[in-house]
Amino acid sequence: MKVLVIGKGGREHAIVHAVSRSKRVNAIYAAPGNPGMAQLAECVNIKDSDVDGLLAFAKAHEIDLTIVGPESSLELGIVDAFQAAGLKIFGPSKAAAQVETSKDFAKRIMKKYGIPTAAYQSFDAYESALAYVETKGVPIVIKEDGLKAGKGVTVAYSMEEAIQALQVAFAMKENRVVIEECLVGFEFSLMCFVCDDIVLPMEIAQDHKCVYDNDQGPNTGGMGVYSPVHTITAEIVNEAMERIMIPMTQALIKEGCAFTGFLYGGLMLTEDGVKTIEFNARFGDPEAEVILPRLKTDICDVIENILNHQKTELEWDSDTVLGVVMASDGYPASSTSGKVIEGLDAADDMIYHMGTKEEDGKFLTAGGRVLIVLGHAPTLREAYQRAYDNVAKIKCDALFYRHDIGKKDL
Ligand code: AMP
Ligand code: GLY
Repeated sequence: MKVLVIGKGGREHAIVHAVSRSKRVNAIYAAPGNPGMAQLAECVNIKDSDVDGLLAFAKAHEIDLTIVGPESSLELGIVDAFQAAGLKIFGPSKAAAQVETSKDFAKRIMKKYGIPTAAYQSFDAYESALAYVETKGVPIVIKEDGLKAGKGVTVAYSMEEAIQALQVAFAMKENRVVIEECLVGFEFSLMCFVCDDIVLPMEIAQDHKCVYDNDQGPNTGGMGVYSPVHTITAEIVNEAMERIMIPMTQALIKEGCAFTGFLYGGLMLTEDGVKTIEFNARFGDPEAEVILPRLKTDICDVIENILNHQKTELEWDSDTVLGVVMASDGYPASSTSGKVIEGLDAADDMIYHMGTKEEDGKFLTAGGRVLIVLGHAPTLREAYQRAYDNVAKIKCDALFYRHDIGKKDL
């Protein structure tokens, strides 16, 4: 098989790495890829937003399977374009990807089909949104509609924070804001391989979204992650499947936009059971980076089978994988680039590149989240130790990281 992976971050590096372990694959291309992936795949210089360019490449190179990483490519309708050309691709159509690309769409479907989630209302204007926040009080959650790379959400604990979030959201001429009840509980990510009504759950991961230790500071795309998560028992996963993941895929079939691809449930275990925080239409990032190293089943078999409407039994490594994100100073508000990174070869476990570039044989920072450094070990405690030992080997004076990934569960 020849496989094309679309994207350039840590998630796609992990997907490429998983594909490279497939016995069936003899060529892997990544578009545009990154310097980390370049050791496993041929990186082709086509942007993940260039749907026509990607399609032309896939045709010319007779790609057997394309796997889409980022939500932005899905929003551009890459799956629709590949399917129209008769090419095999794993990801949702533009219409089905709305579970992620429009928070308003996702909330409407959840409400219509009784899928547990926070109570909410949508607003198009600052005044009415403010009036609603004033009646509801804090804490309250304010989410800008559309794709924001994990950064358009404010959990406001004071009126000042809420007002500031609304001012930022409505500073743009046209915007839509979803305002939600604040849920309290244990957050976790449940991702599934999906094709229409076939839904295969993966192991659970927990992301750490706030930028600083002890969940302080603004939300980010994710600062660290681990899998498995023992707090989330098989019964809880079962409840999440029966009440959330399966009903959502059924709902999308009924709405005329059946889902194919990685369906991500961002879930919260509350006192009233499991509730949905959000859906994503692709693999979680950084969740992919700790879940895929534990998948023992050939990922290409899983995807090919599910596209043929056949289920595959997923086999998992019982070890824990814990990943610490190293981000550029200033992230998520801003970021620096072009700083030299050393010590990448010294780590004992995998490091996935999230935002790097290579110049004259040197790796440089290039973006907000730069690396995710793994620790792979039989227990969470050992995985934590290994991951931070590996982090200590990375030399770069423009990176910071959280020190408490997985600590709550230790
Ligand atoms: P989202 O982009 O919707 O996943 O939101 C980012 C983060 O904000 C989530 O991972 C949660 O930690 C937090 N969050 C979002 N919605 C809620 C909610 N309704 N209640 C409590 N926390 C939330
Ligand atoms: N880890 C959160 C996300 O992928 O959106």
